[in-house]
Amino acid sequence: MNSLTSLVLSSGLVLLVFASIDKAFTNTSHPLDAIPIVGSSGLRSYWEAFKLLLTGGPAVIRRGYDLYPEGCFRIARPTHWLVIVSGPKHVKEFGDAQEHVLSFRGGMENTIAVTQVVGRTIAEDTYHQLTIRGSLTKNLQACFDGVREEIEFAFDEVLKLQGTEWKTLKTLNAMTAVVARVNNRLLVGLPLCRNKTYLDTSIQFAIDVIVSGQIIGFFPQYMRPFVGPLVTSRNKSIATALQLLGPVIEERLAKADTLGSNWPGKPNDFISWLLDDAVGEERTVRNLVLRVLSTNFAAIHTTSMTFTHAIFDLMTRPELIQPLRDEAERVFEEEGWTKNALNKMIKMDSFLRETQRLHTMGPVNMFRKVVAKDGFRFSDGTFLPEGTFACIAIDSIHHDTSFHQNAAELDAFRFAREREEYTATHDRDGQDMFKRHMVNAATDHLPWGIGKHVCPGRFFAAMELKTMLAHVLIKYDFEPQVPGVRPKDIVFGLSVTPNMFAKIRFRKRANLWAWV
Ligand code: HEM
Ligand SMILES: *[C@@H]1O[C@H](CO)[C@@H](O)[C@H](O)[C@H]1NC(C)=O
Ligand SMILES: *[C@@H]1O[C@H](CO)[C@@H](O)[C@H](O)[C@H]1NC(C)=O
Ligand SMILES: *[C@@H]1O[C@H](CO)[C@@H](O)[C@H](O)[C@H]1NC(C)=O
Repeated sequence: MNSLTSLVLSSGLVLLVFASIDKAFTNTSHPLDAIPIVGSSGLRSYWEAFKLLLTGGPAVIRRGYDLYPEGCFRIARPTHWLVIVSGPKHVKEFGDAQEHVLSFRGGMENTIAVTQVVGRTIAEDTYHQLTIRGSLTKNLQACFDGVREEIEFAFDEVLKLQGTEWKTLKTLNAMTAVVARVNNRLLVGLPLCRNKTYLDTSIQFAIDVIVSGQIIGFFPQYMRPFVGPLVTSRNKSIATALQLLGPVIEERLAKADTLGSNWPGKPNDFISWLLDDAVGEERTVRNLVLRVLSTNFAAIHTTSMTFTHAIFDLMTRPELIQPLRDEAERVFEEEGWTKNALNKMIKMDSFLRETQRLHTMGPVNMFRKVVAKDGFRFSDGTFLPEGTFACIAIDSIHHDTSFHQNAAELDAFRFAREREEYTATHDRDGQDMFKRHMVNAATDHLPWGIGKHVCPGRFFAAMELKTMLAHVLIKYDFEPQVPGVRPKDIVFGLSVTPNMFAKIRFRKRANLWAWV
């Protein structure tokens, strides 16, 4: 199902859902009474609540944050209250809470109904995130050449540029196609990472999870098993993935079982690492295929949206292109294309961190459900009873001028300047390292989340994004279709994506360096 159909369908469904609104909204005494309400408080204001569900989300959260920048407030969702958490202390405590107190899975289940989409085993046991945190991250250096080769190949394939012609493409679409290939080079290797049917399925599965999961999420728990199958094509995606990826996994399983886990010639990719960690019923072809699909879900759209935002920023601020291009060319000339070279691209690291700061995937993130019987209490006494849904005001925190000077402004090299000052005044061998690299989470910088569930794929994502950006800067000229105006983000509920209709044009650069 494409996202437009989903949007139309879901708007209709939302109305229907209002008919089954939770009692909470009509009951004047509620366990969350101590937490202030921002925006509509339910039935009496259909219109405001409806707007909040469609496009009013970011504004309501900003309004709440302006009133309660250090504490909590709550907004009405169709079937429950959502508590929004702010302030460095609260954010730290929130991120550090254990899964059996503030549940990541519970929060996910509520926003995108994961169980309906990926199935129960995957939702309950997330061992693959340990594989990403461990083996995948340890092997980034070893896999750099493959990733870089795939980036080059993917851009050639997706842009299909001849000579010095210009070609106009929908940015997000094109970048998603590139990212899907590059991620899958690391996940499933050649030749499958170039198989169009497999790639389309990986992309579609992620859309199933996000779009249909959100639509299902509008419905009360008891209706989900009926609504689920109507709005998701996940069975089809899984069937196709099983057909294409199944045989690869079957062969690897057979080899591991007969030749031992370190058989000669074992490929160094995610399937191998996953098999090292999988036990019991997780060592079945179907479950392993679902793991790969779920990892793609976490990896593809997050990375392609981040990259698209970065490109849009460069399109509206073209004066940033030259310094970034100069840096990339100089570093690669000195170091060659290596993972270490990326560490020397200080301006690029700063620019990408700044892009992520300004363009989040929604006004809130880090959804959690309070699952501890006796609830969750912040150190200042604020109390969230069992069953409460909560999240963090990421976008407002990122725009708070007490954390970032001129917070509303894209100051691409602000972290590069900070880093320079820092290195000038700190002992090189000292314990306290500079903590504003692109991959560093902080209570005022939350694109990767923070604490217990901080994104385990961030080192890979950063490596990929930097290599892609360096590649694009060095290899291509690019221009917006409409100069000077940043394409408007698309807002739906509490999620925000870069404009998927906005196009840019690419052309091969003329005077390419001999060593590229
Ligand atoms: C720019 C790209 C990415 C962004 C912005 C991003 C963002 C995030 C965020 C915010 C979370 C934490 C959510 C929370 O606390 O509620 C997260 C978790 C996660 N991410 Fe990423 N991510 C990116 C790329 C990736 C990649 C490339 C992978 C896989 C290779 C990945 C795998 C995961 C997994 C498995 C989790 C769940 C961790 C857990 O269960 O503890 N992510 N990501
Ligand atoms: C309202 O909620 C409280 C606490 O959840 C409950 O004790 C009370 O009976 C409810 N009142 C009505 C009128 O439903
Ligand atoms: C994808 O792989 C399958 C199975 O190996 C193959 O039959 C199919 O032709 C491939 N499709 C493309 C577009 O390469
Ligand atoms: C999808 O697959 C599951 C499990 O195999 C099955 O129970 C369900 O009925 C299928 N749904 C649809 C819509 O085919």
